Amino acid sequence: MTSSASNGPDFEQMWSALLPIGRSAASGGYFRQPWHGAEVELRAWFVEEADRRGLEVEHDAFGNMVAWWRPDGAAGPAVLTGSHLDSVLDGGAFDGPLGVVSALAAYDRLVESGVRPDRPLAIGVFAEEEGSRFGRACLGSRLAVGAASWEDARSLTDADGVRLGDVVEGGAPSSWLAGVGAYVELHVEQGRGLVDLDAAVGAASGIWPHGRWRFDFTGRADHAGAARMEDRADPMLSYAMTALAANKQARLAGQRATFGRVEVAPNGTNVVPSRVSAWLDARADSPSGMADLVAEIERQAAARAERDGTSLSVTAESVTGAVSFDPVLRGRVDGLLGGAVPVLPSIAGHDAGVLQEAGIPTAMLFVRNPTGVSHAPAESAGTDDCLAGVEALATALTGLLTGPGE
Ligand code: GLV
Ligand code: MN
Ligand code: MN
Repeated sequence: MTSSASNGPDFEQMWSALLPIGRSAASGGYFRQPWHGAEVELRAWFVEEADRRGLEVEHDAFGNMVAWWRPDGAAGPAVLTGSHLDSVLDGGAFDGPLGVVSALAAYDRLVESGVRPDRPLAIGVFAEEEGSRFGRACLGSRLAVGAASWEDARSLTDADGVRLGDVVEGGAPSSWLAGVGAYVELHVEQGRGLVDLDAAVGAASGIWPHGRWRFDFTGRADHAGAARMEDRADPMLSYAMTALAANKQARLAGQRATFGRVEVAPNGTNVVPSRVSAWLDARADSPSGMADLVAEIERQAAARAERDGTSLSVTAESVTGAVSFDPVLRGRVDGLLGGAVPVLPSIAGHDAGVLQEAGIPTAMLFVRNPTGVSHAPAESAGTDDCLAGVEALATALTGLLTGPGE
C-alpha cells in the first residue's frame, strides 16, 4: 500500500523533459527503440516520476512496467491507464509518450482534487509496442497476456543479431494483469479525424484488422554490367512490381497496404541482387477485406516472380483481427465525459487492442493531431489539446475509480 505523496512536475514540464531524449538533430524525429539508449533513459524517467509520487513500480519479465496507486480503502480490480515509450524509427514525439505523460498528469489531478479511489490505479508502460526492434507489434502486451508465446518470441532477433531472450528474462504471462479490471489508453490521433470534426479529444470505437507479412524474393546474383538484361533472375523487379500492385489493390479496395521495410542481399550497386526481403503492412476495415487484399497481392507477386525467374515465399509474421472496444466501458467513459466526445475507428494498432482481446474491458481516448501525420517527425499535438486530453482522462479515471464498479 502506498499513500499519495506530493505531485511531480506538471504536464508541460514532464513533456519538455522528454523532448530531447532520442531526438535526431538531422530529422527532428525520434529513435526510441526498446532497450536501447533513449528508451532506457525514458524508462528511468518513468521510474523516477513514479517514485517521486510514491507509486510502487513493478517490472514484469517482458520489460513492461506498471506503477501502482493503492491508497487506503482502494481494493478490487484496478483501473489501468498508460501507453508505451518506444517509437518507430525516426518517429514522432507523441505516439506512446503522450499516453504515459498524460497518465501521470491525470494522476496528479486526482490527488490534487482529493479523489479517494475505491479501486487501485495502475499506470502502465508496455514494451516494444511498435515492433521497431524485434519486428512484432505490441510484443510486450502480447507476451504479458499470453497472446504470444515466450518460446517463440525468445529467439526473435534484432538487426544486430541480438535475441529478445538476451534482453529480457521472459517466462509465463504476467500475473499483474490479473489485478486489472479495465484499461483506458490515451493516444495522439494518427489521422485528421478530430481536425475535421473540430474536436480536441475523441474516443475510439475499435481497431481495424492489420498485420505484417514478409515477402522473400530469391533470384540469382550477377554482374550489373556483364549480365545481359534478358539473362537475369532479378528479385528486385519482382519486389518492385509487388509494391506497385499492393498500392493499386489497396486503393481499389479502400484499404491500406505499405512496403516500408526492405532488405537487399548483397546490397551492392553493381550487383544484380540474389534476394529481396520486403515487409508488407496491410490493414482493412474487415477481416475478409484484409484476407482478400493480402491474397491478391500475394497472387500478383507470385505471377511476377514466375515471369522473372525468381521464387517467392510469404510468411505471416503477425496478424491481428478486428477489435471492438468494450461497449459498456465505452458508454461509461462517454457518459463521464458528458456524451460530447466524437467516436472514431483506429486504423493504427495499440496495446489497448491486445488487452481488449484478452478479455480486459478497454477504451481509448484520442487527442487531436493538427498535421494528421504519425510515425514521422511531423506528428503533432497542441499544448491546449494535450491538456484537454489530461482533463478528459482524469475525469474518466475519477468516475471509474470511485463509486460502484461494473
Ligand atoms: C502501431 O502504431 C501501428 O499501428 O503500427
Ligand atoms: Mn505507433
Ligand atoms: Mn502508439
